[in-house]
Amino acid sequence: MRNVLISGASRGFGLAIAQRLAADGFRVIALARHSSAGLQAAIGASSAGEIHFHAADLSDLEGIAGHVRAIKAAFGPIYGLVNNAAASAEGLLTSLSQAQIEALVRLNTVSPLLLTKYAPRSMMQQKAGRVVNMASIIASTGFAGLSVYGATKAAMVGFTRSLARDVGKVGITVNAVAPGFAETELTSSMDSGQRAQVARRSAMAQLVQPQDIAAAVAFLMSEDAARITGTVLTVDAVATA
Ligand SMILES: NC(=O)c1ccc[n+]([C@@H]2O[C@H](COP(=O)([O-])OP(=O)(O)OC[C@H]3O[C@@H](n4cnc5c(N)ncnc54)[C@H](OP(=O)(O)O)[C@@H]3O)[C@@H](O)[C@H]2O)c1
Repeated sequence: MRNVLISGASRGFGLAIAQRLAADGFRVIALARHSSAGLQAAIGASSAGEIHFHAADLSDLEGIAGHVRAIKAAFGPIYGLVNNAAASAEGLLTSLSQAQIEALVRLNTVSPLLLTKYAPRSMMQQKAGRVVNMASIIASTGFAGLSVYGATKAAMVGFTRSLARDVGKVGITVNAVAPGFAETELTSSMDSGQRAQVARRSAMAQLVQPQDIAAAVAFLMSEDAARITGTVLTVDAVATA
């Protein structure tokens, strides 16, 4: 069974991705600081694959190499990595503290870079692997009050394109998914008026669902996507077209 490490898999998109990849027959290592009722239910549910929880705080950059080592020791080589964990901080740049800005860049940008530095070593040995980075449509459209978050998501797109060039020769694909707005804990501070406004921008008059993001990641993990790399797959119910 192939191992896929998913960061931020206790809720929201990450949990939906874990459930979908387990249904597709992968062994999922679901990483987050804390497990959740939803993740425990997914671990207990019958599926073609498996889900295992691994507790880690990705803001602790010094600990990342050790977590990857422990996961490989417990489960074997990692075939897929989904860099999904991230946080958001709303507010004008001038109103955010330096500590808030650094914390967001550390979790959303530096930690996925480090996870990708350590996890794909086994992909290189196997000459096969998949990396999927969670970006956002905000990386290209912008959104008022989300300049730091937007910078971190744009960084994931730049990272995706260059890393795909570095590791293509050893059989590893690297892609990004750019979701539109979905109702998760990350976006829970938006009020109903703002949600309705976002839904109206969609040509489908709908919000994206976590299952839509999971389906996009599942495709990029599949054999059908073996020669798709360095690209960004937008999943936004036509918010940006
Ligand atoms: N929701 C949207 O509308 C939207 C749109 C575009 C892009 N995205 C992107 O999609 C991804 C998932 O977003 P989401 O909406 O599903 O977020 P979410 O519901 O807030 O979930 C975030 C996940 O990350 C984990 N996490 C947070 N801090 C962590 C840390 N320090 N160490 C390890 N894990 C940590 C959380 O678990 P713990 O708290 O237990 O650690 C949780 O599992 C993010 O990259 C986000 O930028 C979301």
